[in-house]
Amino acid sequence: MKTIAVLTSGGDAPGMNACIRSVVRSGAAHGLQVIGFRRGFTGLMAGDYIPLGPRAVANIIQRGGTFLGTSRSPEFKGTEGRRKAIDVLEKAGVEGLIVIGGDGSFRGIYDLIRECDIRAVGIPGTIDNDIYGTDVSIGFDTAVNTVLEAIDRIRDTAASHERLFFVEVMGRQSGFIALEVGLAGGAEAVVVPEAPTDIKQLSKVLIDSQHRGKSSSIVIVTEGDEPGVAFTLAEQVKACVGMESRVVVLGHIQRGGSPTAKDRVLATLLGAAAVTALVEGKTGVMVGEINNMVVLTPLPEAWGKKKILDLSRLSLVGTLAG
Ligand code: F6P
Repeated sequence: MKTIAVLTSGGDAPGMNACIRSVVRSGAAHGLQVIGFRRGFTGLMAGDYIPLGPRAVANIIQRGGTFLGTSRSPEFKGTEGRRKAIDVLEKAGVEGLIVIGGDGSFRGIYDLIRECDIRAVGIPGTIDNDIYGTDVSIGFDTAVNTVLEAIDRIRDTAASHERLFFVEVMGRQSGFIALEVGLAGGAEAVVVPEAPTDIKQLSKVLIDSQHRGKSSSIVIVTEGDEPGVAFTLAEQVKACVGMESRVVVLGHIQRGGSPTAKDRVLATLLGAAAVTALVEGKTGVMVGEINNMVVLTPLPEAWGKKKILDLSRLSLVGTLAG
């Protein structure tokens, strides 16, 4: 194997740059040429790539976002789009492709490797942390810490005004961010897609805590696939709870910022492991980390199996609400 390529795909996540750096420098250590496609699969189909030597990735380990750029590409889902990508890869002499992204990106490369002789390995990069086959995905820890800082600030004003706050956090199909920050930030309740939302029960929790002397509360709400859902929930709860309330939607602020040490280390380990996997002839797998060990998971499992949210932790939020 002489040449490999790397790209980032789907929603950006802090730590993607650290991961690209690791892929590039591990590749160089194996004597490989590395190229980087810009703008995810969109750039791959257009043949938009740059050579990436070890110096090209200097001074990026601490930067959020992805310096290669990223995209969500409906065109790549079709055979026509993938045909363009295969032509580009073959002309550039690419024998191995590393894709840093989420489940949609993994489906794309799995289809691609069935249509050509190029090997491909996925690396889980999404703040949602909803990918099976890894304890944590790149970007999750940074996003959690970003949200936590916001919650701590919101608690200051919530307490000062004796208000109820609904804080909406990201997570398209999963409540990993919500549950983690709910525990870390001492929220009174957490709403996740993995458990049904019972408005009466939620209102009772808030009313009970008022009766126990609480003058302010914070409810963490997962946006799911409907950003702004916290406004609807707040309206429904307001009808039952006699407390002044406010809604904060944190939105894309959660995706930016310098990656935490945890994310940089994870990204670095997985980037190196992906290169090793390609060199060893592996393909159609995702590299993840489980119990501090690098684990390879077949791509169809990575997107097909559901990563389970620990619902006992959700009950713990309620128990500790005081
Ligand atoms: O997949 C990560 C994520 O940040 C989700 O939590 C969110 O629902 C989605 O991306 C937002 O996507 P976009 O940036 O395309 O609006």
